Amino acid sequence: MQVFEKIKDISNFIKELKAQKKTIGFVPTMGFLHEGHLSLMRYAKKVTDVVVVSIFVNPAQFGPKEDFNTYPRDIEGDKGKCLDAGVDILFMPSASEIYPEGYLTYVNVEKITDVMCGASRPGHFKGVATIVAKLFDIVKPDKAFFGQKDYQQTLVIKKMAADLNMDIDVEALPTVREPDGLAMSSRNSYLNEEERKAATCLYWSLTKAEEMIKNGERNSAKIIGDMQKIIEAEKLARIDYITIADAETLEEIKTIDKKAVIALAVWIGKTRLIDNIVVNMK
Ligand code: PAJ
Repeated sequence: MQVFEKIKDISNFIKELKAQKKTIGFVPTMGFLHEGHLSLMRYAKKVTDVVVVSIFVNPAQFGPKEDFNTYPRDIEGDKGKCLDAGVDILFMPSASEIYPEGYLTYVNVEKITDVMCGASRPGHFKGVATIVAKLFDIVKPDKAFFGQKDYQQTLVIKKMAADLNMDIDVEALPTVREPDGLAMSSRNSYLNEEERKAATCLYWSLTKAEEMIKNGERNSAKIIGDMQKIIEAEKLARIDYITIADAETLEEIKTIDKKAVIALAVWIGKTRLIDNIVVNMK
């Protein structure tokens, strides 16, 4: 596995691979890798010749009161996991390499970033779109892989790639969960034992929603009401949002009569967790 910290070095290496007609698969991450990340890398390995992973805790996507400074980091552990997953190139730039002094350019995807996590975290998706656009330009992937766990993020990246004519195939892959249903996340490491147990309420509320839909319920308010009850029964949990929205536009829908995303963000103590499911209705 080749490890690069400088843009110039990885760019030169990628140029050679392109000259050899290798296809490049890309998995951007913020590190502290878990099975969710690794599933993307293993899939990338199957469908492209060369797999590039980036590890960069992107300051531009954290709000001033958010967890940039405490975000978990484990560079040595991550390197080992990448190696085991068959990653060919690991890119680990410094913040000043990505945002040198005087940096002024940002990418802003409108509308679909105003709702859900975008409403709770102003500026977050501008930071995400900007770093991913920059990484795409550096890595020049044929395909890039993202997790459904961050549904809105994946949609934002797909829209950005389409709108800016980036010739990159952006693929969304399923959420990897712990045995008790909790969606894997680097932020789960913030949870103490009691909070970790409480955190399963996100999954249980989604399971309840799925069951109601299976039994014929189509009224979003009713489903959200039952989901709320499950979260509110957990004393360590505080709802940020629960929404049922059109899976493409993220506009809230009152009746589930098309492909929809059921998404929520919940505070467990001081940790904000997100999860979602997609339901495909005709
Ligand atoms: P990070 O949270 O490290 O996630 C990197 C990728 O792993 C994202 O595409 C995310 O959706 C995916 N992922 C995380 N948990 C997952 C799970 N349980 N199952 C499947 N996939 C999962 O998302 C980011 O980093 C950053 O915003 C980034 C895109 C790298 C830009 O900075």
